[in-house]
Amino acid sequence: MTQFRWGMVGGGKGSQIGGTHRLAAHLDRHFALTAGALDIDPERGRSFGMELGMEPDRAYGDWREMLAAEIDRPDRLDLVTIATPNNSHYEVARAFLDAGFAVFCEKPMTLNVDEAADLIALSRVRRTLCAVNYSYSGYPMIRQARAMVADGAIGKVRVVMAEFAHGGHADADPSPGTVWRYDPKIAGDSAVLTDAGSHALFLATFILGDRLDAVSAVFDRCVPGRELEDDALLALRFSGGAVGRLWTSSVAIGQIHGLTIRVFGETGGLSWSQEQPNQLYFSPIGEATRILERGTAYLAPEALKASRIGGGHAEGFVEAVANLYRDAADILAGGPEAEAARHRLPTVEDGFDGVAAVSAAVDSASAGSIWSQVRRATG
Ligand SMILES: NC(=O)c1ccc[n+]([C@@H]2O[C@H](COP(=O)([O-])OP(=O)(O)OC[C@H]3O[C@@H](n4cnc5c(N)ncnc54)[C@H](O)[C@@H]3O)[C@@H](O)[C@H]2O)c1
Repeated sequence: MTQFRWGMVGGGKGSQIGGTHRLAAHLDRHFALTAGALDIDPERGRSFGMELGMEPDRAYGDWREMLAAEIDRPDRLDLVTIATPNNSHYEVARAFLDAGFAVFCEKPMTLNVDEAADLIALSRVRRTLCAVNYSYSGYPMIRQARAMVADGAIGKVRVVMAEFAHGGHADADPSPGTVWRYDPKIAGDSAVLTDAGSHALFLATFILGDRLDAVSAVFDRCVPGRELEDDALLALRFSGGAVGRLWTSSVAIGQIHGLTIRVFGETGGLSWSQEQPNQLYFSPIGEATRILERGTAYLAPEALKASRIGGGHAEGFVEAVANLYRDAADILAGGPEAEAARHRLPTVEDGFDGVAAVSAAVDSASAGSIWSQVRRATG
């Protein structure tokens, strides 16, 4: 097994997602945290980097300093994860990709579609991996749902109901990790749709193997003073003819994480909830609903590959993100698993689609919920 040298930009001490990346990247020992510029505060970033075991000369105070120093090293990094707030993703990803580093970027990949198109072009020119952390696609039972839809287990998909509605921002929480999510200069044109809803949209396209074609959106700001939406309802049209709905909210008190997806086809339905991730409900038409369990022999190979322990034990979010890191490792290694991994790992094109879907929803919501086409990446 190759162990890759791994770096991080952002994800400092106390950040929401930084610790998950470190647990996930290390789980299968494919990656070793080697360098980082982990924090907006240079000193805090350096000292946390060393606390995590980085050599002092590779615990950087700033990502530009990190890039300049890493670029010519013979033992340079194999993968750089970007886990800063949204408004720096493009600049950091662009700089590292341009220097030939493979990148694993947090969502949203960029703040707008032009930047996203630029990253597609750059990753193609540099022939460098640029993946995006749509983390929930790493869950085994999501991969099972995708395999079942592809196999025709529920027939042609008619309707998708997706929900990512939590109550985590139901008050005017002044903590920095909440405040930036409603600041358009940092978050972009959308708050909860970008932050939460975009994950559910990605799951829908991932499971269906389809693209989102058009959206009609209603945005609301429930907590006074917010500049961006904290509740949104979208109607969806997919290229293959399926329709869908998405409710996303950060003011849904009582819902803890609140991510569910249900897919209804001509001959059956599938239902999955992130808070019970080890079960997938399968309802063939005219028959009793079956509960498919993670880690059991009757599952599709890609679902089995995504599990590390047998059925009945709990696996969760860290393992799901670890599956994306394992896919990235398979691609970087270039061995027999690389091609299959490319079909699983959310790509730079998926990052574009996510940004384009949000942009179409913003346009729709600001124009009285008219249907808005989702822009396609060209080429
Ligand atoms: N994929 C997921 O499931 C998931 C979950 C949570 C957050 N996210 C995404 O991850 C990103 C970070 O979110 P978060 O909740 O962890 O934010 P956060 O505010 O909790 O943490 C951000 C971290 O980045 C650091 N940082 C900020 N600017 C930096 C810079 N220029 N250079 C280096 N470090 C910098 C901060 O010091 C902090 O440590 C966001 O884009 C968010 O959308 C994704």
